[in-house]
Amino acid sequence: MALPELFLQELKMRNDMVEVASSYVNLKRSGRNFTGLCPFHNEKTPSFHIYTENNTFYCFGCGAGGDVITFIRRIENLDYMESIRFLADRAGLQVPENAIDDGMAKLKGRILEINRESARFFHAQLWTEQGKPALDYLLGRGLTSKTIRHFGLGYSLNSRFGLVDHLKKKGYTSYEIVQSNVAFESRTGKVMDRFFSRVMFPIIDLRGNVVGFGGRILTDEKPKYLNTSDTLAFKKSNGLFAMNFAKNSNPERLILVEGYMDVIALHQAGFPNAVATLGTALTSEQAKLMARYVKEVVISYDADEAGQKAASRAIHLLREAGLLVKVLSIEGGKDPDEFIRSFGDQGPARFKHLIESSGNDMEYRLRKLKSQCDMQMPEGKVAYLNGAAELLAELDNRMEQEIYAGRLAEEMEIDRISILLQVDKNRKKAMRSRKKKEFREIQQQITGMKDTVNPEKKKHLRAANAEEGLLACLFRNQDGQQAQRLYEKLPPEKFCTGFNRRVYETIMGKIMSGNGCELADISGDFSVEEISGISRILARYDMVPLSSEDAEEYSDIILQEYQKLCAENVESAQPQDIQEYLQKLREQKK
Ligand code: UTP
Ligand code: MN
Repeated sequence: MALPELFLQELKMRNDMVEVASSYVNLKRSGRNFTGLCPFHNEKTPSFHIYTENNTFYCFGCGAGGDVITFIRRIENLDYMESIRFLADRAGLQVPENAIDDGMAKLKGRILEINRESARFFHAQLWTEQGKPALDYLLGRGLTSKTIRHFGLGYSLNSRFGLVDHLKKKGYTSYEIVQSNVAFESRTGKVMDRFFSRVMFPIIDLRGNVVGFGGRILTDEKPKYLNTSDTLAFKKSNGLFAMNFAKNSNPERLILVEGYMDVIALHQAGFPNAVATLGTALTSEQAKLMARYVKEVVISYDADEAGQKAASRAIHLLREAGLLVKVLSIEGGKDPDEFIRSFGDQGPARFKHLIESSGNDMEYRLRKLKSQCDMQMPEGKVAYLNGAAELLAELDNRMEQEIYAGRLAEEMEIDRISILLQVDKNRKKAMRSRKKKEFREIQQQITGMKDTVNPEKKKHLRAANAEEGLLACLFRNQDGQQAQRLYEKLPPEKFCTGFNRRVYETIMGKIMSGNGCELADISGDFSVEEISGISRILARYDMVPLSSEDAEEYSDIILQEYQKLCAENVESAQPQDIQEYLQKLREQKK
């Protein structure tokens, strides 16, 4: 991906790591660096660091790290070119057009255009004679035409080629159409509409792109809903239906419901903060996305068993993401859409009341636990109390713990203090096992046991550590001539581990040309995980002074290890290989 050097430099200069990160993270200065609570995992004590010297970040908790471009890639869920555009926009820069020739980015752009065109096409059908059944259906379900327009709802005709023909006329190729998943290739090789005779719900991302569709059949046929599969432009486990509207309504909290129709009915009733997953169970990515906008989520899932199971899972994920969770229960097994409609004009006020009186998830979970224990028997009561003490131990707020312990004590007619003692015991136990886990992780990192970006590290520990030391030196001191000398002494082939070799090659090219090299300059050449791996190295050497003597020493170790490795290879080699090896040695001497 060839972005002009000058543009990249301007981009880096105008997007200071600290400034960019501070719109997502509350940062505190610590010496010349900054720290804060990591936005990539949930934590209570800050392990997210920003290093001002080289404009990088690294989280010691979850191992996420990189430059400002990687930061945006991760936090906004964008690919490399999109992050470049995002940062360019932020700084008021224009991305040079000839730079955007990247094939994937281009196809993704085409997919988004196809989606938008398809949404328009579906929407237009609603107002035609053929689309009348669908329009009547939606109006019959209580939607106003304003709501229908607001959500851009539509109808896919009972035809197998209607949309495909339309898109081809607009100049899209069969390949592009199939890649966008509005059509599929049949066994006989025909490209056919994927959706027909369905009410269409466009799914719109946070930037206003139509990324996919849900389509509901008008009859009782199965499947009731058909959803776009994941494409280059759509990952259903990451997005939320109507989050584009919800986020703009400056919500105090979000309401999480199960279905598209629930969301739409709620928005129409004056709750623009309702969102839903896209035909799958809630994921941790979606929970984190919500946590970026609100502190509290009210779950309003169906009252049936499936709904309640899904709610339990969702509670867990939402709490993990640091959210307060409330659970709303609707009497009589109705979903929010049915509930609101069943009360006519009173619907919205009734629903508001439900939200305000909804218990938090601790009450919900205690109730659920109790229903599973036989409260007539002493063993059942003990099981309930033990389970409750475990639940309360998950609360971080002492006051909350005291309140619930007080209620439990009253309910079960036992001493409040003894409940709290049990809670404390559980907490200590959990803390100990967390500490142990952290310690193990750190050990594994040092010994390369879990280094996934450099799996060869554990086999060549001494070499790999020296390689990493050398890479840290190179990022720190960027003298073109010194680098030239080093490169002659230590060509990349002599690195023992492939990953470090690749990093070395990439940065040496830049340093030797005299331009210098920051992490941001190479972040297009590596995956987000690989960049994290490089930042881990940089973070480890942050407080360590590195001189050119250190670089010498590291390169000596690498060479020694290389020689050792060659010798080992010779021991197990065939006569022919040995000949070649000797020949090489002779050449090197010359
Ligand atoms: P529901 O069956 O509760 O749908 O499924 P709903 O939204 O209340 O629909 P109406 O009121 O019957 O029209 C909840 C969600 O589960 C997904 C859809 O996202 C739906 O909105 N779903 C359901 C599917 O993806 N496929 C299905 O076949 C059914
Ligand atoms: Mn429904």
